Amino acid sequence: MIQSKWGPWSLCVIALILLTIYNILLTAKLMYGQECVKGVQVKQTEVAQAVRPPPPPPQCRLEQHVSGDDLQINIELELGRWDNRMLYKLYDRIFVGDRYAQLSEEYFVCLATQSSLERLFSLVQVTRNWSGPISAAVFAAGDDELNLLLSYIVYLRRCFPNIRERVTFHLTLPKSRLPKVIDIDVDVIGGLNCVNAESILRALVARRTGATDKWRTKNPYPQNHLRNLARKNCQSQYVFLTDVDIIPSEGLAEALNYFLRKVSCKKLCAYVIPTYEIDNRVRFPPNKTELVRLANKGLARPFHQKVFIYNQFATNFSKWQVTTGEDKEVHVSHPVTNFEFLYEPFYVAPDSAPPHDERFIGYGYTRNTQVYEMFVAGYEFLVLSPVFTCHWGLQVKRGRPVWREYQNNLHRKYFETFKKEVFAKYNKDPLRMMEQRKVQSL
Ligand SMILES: *[C@@H]1O[C@H](CO)[C@@H](O)[C@H](O)[C@H]1NC(C)=O
Ligand SMILES: *[C@@H]1O[C@H](CO)[C@@H](O)[C@H](O)[C@H]1NC(C)=O
Ligand SMILES: *[C@@H]1O[C@H](CO)[C@@H](O)[C@H](O)[C@H]1NC(C)=O
Repeated sequence: MIQSKWGPWSLCVIALILLTIYNILLTAKLMYGQECVKGVQVKQTEVAQAVRPPPPPPQCRLEQHVSGDDLQINIELELGRWDNRMLYKLYDRIFVGDRYAQLSEEYFVCLATQSSLERLFSLVQVTRNWSGPISAAVFAAGDDELNLLLSYIVYLRRCFPNIRERVTFHLTLPKSRLPKVIDIDVDVIGGLNCVNAESILRALVARRTGATDKWRTKNPYPQNHLRNLARKNCQSQYVFLTDVDIIPSEGLAEALNYFLRKVSCKKLCAYVIPTYEIDNRVRFPPNKTELVRLANKGLARPFHQKVFIYNQFATNFSKWQVTTGEDKEVHVSHPVTNFEFLYEPFYVAPDSAPPHDERFIGYGYTRNTQVYEMFVAGYEFLVLSPVFTCHWGLQVKRGRPVWREYQNNLHRKYFETFKKEVFAKYNKDPLRMMEQRKVQSL
């Protein structure tokens, strides 16, 4: 009976009707569809009105300025992985540098770094002087900040070939303010000029909602989560972990390649790259001779010398500065002989070094505890020359904001646990921290 009712002829007709409807729908979608790239909504807003060319026609015009490739954002917001305490969601490789994999083979050292939206501009400077692979972990809270952050990364990748080639980005999001949608403004990004990367960033940051600004000041920035995320996504043999505003000296990656190829380290070695802070008015020193000249004129000095002397003191800059050597080759200037607690140099080491403890969230005890554990584990710190890094601006001591004081006090308490754990793990106490009842206050 069924056969007689639905003969082969009528089945054909039904199939034909369905196909036609499907075709009409597809055509309609192509003509009027809002989505240019899956998962990325396109809309227009005001930010760049001043700097952009005449308004584009309403259809999708991705190819005009921002190519479809630029929008290959590898995130599925609902599929991140949790950190150990389920406070943050982590996403690996949301953008992959075009030559990241290749550079990871060519260079011994991967530069691992972390940043929030406000400071991301420094990547432009970092990539000018660092030709090797860069693994960058970024942080965003809420829909508005995430979308501003992604927009800026798309912009950086479009305007700066060095960033596009070398940098692979990873993302960390807080559980308590998880973004829900990716919604970036392709037309606006396409219209942004490539000259004023810094002011464009400021304009984007200004578009963050009041609620997000408030959240950001009230909640700690998970530096150590970001550091571990950046470190573990490096593929090279060695990692050079920095903060994003630490600018390497010219040709550092090549210089390290040369050095590490011939070096032999019998035990555990970490190679310290001295860090200076330089006056905003000077030209970035192209070599050590020039840096030392600036230092002698008071236009450069060891990083944090005035703010927090322990930070780099054990590097022994006076010793480093004496050998102004015009010798181009990288070599060990001297070993660190007076290691002290709270020392936190930027160093190059294989990534089998201990991780950054993620119980320290925010400021205080974040990097120096990791360096402390390395020291207890038996690492030797060797200071390299004539390479260096610089931070823009001579830092002066300022009153510490209340939130920072609060985080610091909290971390001072955690540190009591941390140092016992380190002692239990290595059964060594070279700095006699277990005897010392009162930890120097930061
Ligand atoms: C190295 O970086 C500094 C600071 O951004 C810059 O002034 C300098 O031109 C860079 N060097 C090269 C070779 O690009
Ligand atoms: C170092 O830089 C200074 C200033 O640019 C330059 O005059 C000098 O020749 C450079 N020295 C070397 C060895 O490249
Ligand atoms: C730095 O080196 C000088 C001599 O080269 C030495 O007298 C001094 O104790 C060292 N200081 C530190 C902090 O290592």
